Amino acid sequence: MNISNRVAVVTGGARRVGRAIALALADAGASVFVHYNSSAGPAEDALAEIHSRGGRGAVGSVDLGDPAAAPQLIDMAADALGEVSILVNSASGFATDTITDVDLAGWQRSHDLTLASPVFLTQAFAAALGDDSQGAVLNVTDVRTSTPYLKHFSYVIAKGGLDTFTRAAAVALAPGIRVNAVALGVILPPPGEDAAYVEELAADLPLQRVGGTEPVVAAALHLIQNDFVTGEIIRLDGGGHLT
Ligand SMILES: NC(=O)c1ccc[n+]([C@@H]2O[C@H](COP(=O)([O-])OP(=O)(O)OC[C@H]3O[C@@H](n4cnc5c(N)ncnc54)[C@H](OP(=O)(O)O)[C@@H]3O)[C@@H](O)[C@H]2O)c1
Repeated sequence: MNISNRVAVVTGGARRVGRAIALALADAGASVFVHYNSSAGPAEDALAEIHSRGGRGAVGSVDLGDPAAAPQLIDMAADALGEVSILVNSASGFATDTITDVDLAGWQRSHDLTLASPVFLTQAFAAALGDDSQGAVLNVTDVRTSTPYLKHFSYVIAKGGLDTFTRAAAVALAPGIRVNAVALGVILPPPGEDAAYVEELAADLPLQRVGGTEPVVAAALHLIQNDFVTGEIIRLDGGGHLT
């Protein structure tokens, strides 16, 4: 798939990993709809950066904590920029809970934001895509679905659902739409933590360093562009899954 002149939606595109993917898609020639929830200023900054590099884009906010509201994002982006043929599901929560203390409301919040919204966004994306158009969905998941966190219980289970959804949707939406994922390890410090926090985690990895967004962007572009890959989940974890 040639990214140039396509319209891409990146959820959580205002900051951090989502922003890096949004800017890379714009650099590759896509018109990028930068979705945000609360980060209006950073979303405008990301759009200004896209414009300063000669790109095209727009911004818009939808609370993906409500999966029933998620599909309107596809309409907003299409109204602003034209037919959407690339969807990146990067927005997520990172709830702290365990199997012992999670309650039903918290469990539901994690699953709404991290799993149900990507599912219903993808459904709306597929419904809006023309019969003759090719589409690509990229989900952003977590390498810890294989070695589950104990203290982010509802989050990691929702991400595990996203892994399964990636494979199921790849089959269900083929051949017109490919669905892939990147599974991240130690990429950036979680909100509220500093560089030392992730450097300590990274010391135990085979590659002994923090990933940063560059390897994520490289894998994201590869999965979106490569027309013979679907249902694939690429780990960006410095080899952490091996130890
Ligand atoms: N950073 C890592 O090392 C790492 C590791 C493993 C997996 N991941 C995954 O990679 C992706 C990006 O990570 P990140 O660290 O860049 O994420 P992050 O800083 O936690 O940002 C999450 C994004 O989700 C959006 N969001 C949160 N609640 C929302 C809601 N109710 N409705 C709509 N959007 C909402 C936020 O938008 P606003 O800012 O506009 O509110 C924010 O941009 C996530 O899926 C994460 O699970 C990251």
